[in-house]
Amino acid sequence: MTDTRNQGTAAEAVPLMELREVFVAYHGDITVLNGLSLGAREGAITGIIGPNGAGKSTVLKTLYGFLRPSKGDIMLRGERVNGLPPYDFINRGVAYVPQNRSLFNELSVEDNLRLGCWVFRNDKRRMAEALEIAYTHFPLLKERRNEPAGSMSGGQQRFLELGRSLALKPSLILLDEPTAMIAPRLSREIYDVIKTLPEAGITVILVDQNVRQCVAVSDYMYVLDLGRVRAEGSRADFGDDTQLRDMISEWLDYQID
Ligand SMILES: Nc1ncnc2c1ncn2[C@@H]1O[C@H](COP(=O)(O)OP(=O)(O)OP(=O)(O)O)[C@@H](O)[C@H]1O
Ligand SMILES: [Mg+2]
Repeated sequence: MTDTRNQGTAAEAVPLMELREVFVAYHGDITVLNGLSLGAREGAITGIIGPNGAGKSTVLKTLYGFLRPSKGDIMLRGERVNGLPPYDFINRGVAYVPQNRSLFNELSVEDNLRLGCWVFRNDKRRMAEALEIAYTHFPLLKERRNEPAGSMSGGQQRFLELGRSLALKPSLILLDEPTAMIAPRLSREIYDVIKTLPEAGITVILVDQNVRQCVAVSDYMYVLDLGRVRAEGSRADFGDDTQLRDMISEWLDYQID
């Protein structure tokens, strides 16, 4: 697991988006990310795991411009994008589904989708296409389209959040624990959709506390701890590396098999 940067073409390609030696603090000089470097390879699913408080959500918030590094660079397609506000990332084909719920509960499913597509609200054809994308990924959303988002279960609301982001036709999607606290059947549906995204030209960064699923769907993985990368590698590395598996089991009280 020590020299993991030489894992074949996926690892050698220039990342679509990356953090380079980034330091981030929420308050003063107490840094939460400590010189962290990681990247999402185009057309791949990049998984990020680590114990509670490791900085996983902070990584996504930093990539999406909600937090500014005190040091280090955020790169998108080889361009430095430090300081860019979050809405600019939508126009650059990056979508973000945060860990916390982000729906308007009183609004209908369809109105939530329309609001998510505010950037092209005057383009009727594009709006119709956006709704179609969300409904194709998650047919249940079409059935429930006139019902308040808040009337749906947690898992169904997750469908809506994912559908709303996919409706933007992103080339990169940042997902923060998309199946946390969700019934197993709905979780499976979500992973099934995530797995299809690279074929549809969508690169994925997946933060997940479900280690088994994250290893199963990711092409490349990072293990974070205390705002640093503790280990990285391809799926095969994670399967073979007993030390790493023991470390993860210890953190999460969980056995990878
Ligand atoms: N808004 C905030 N203000 C101050 N500190 C914060 C804030 N959000 C997170 N932190 C701190 O930053 C560190 C990393 O938090 P982060 O949410 O990125 O972890 P995480 O790996 O996503 O954890 P979890 O698995 O619980 O979601 C933690 O120590 C946390 O307490
Ligand atoms: Mg988190």
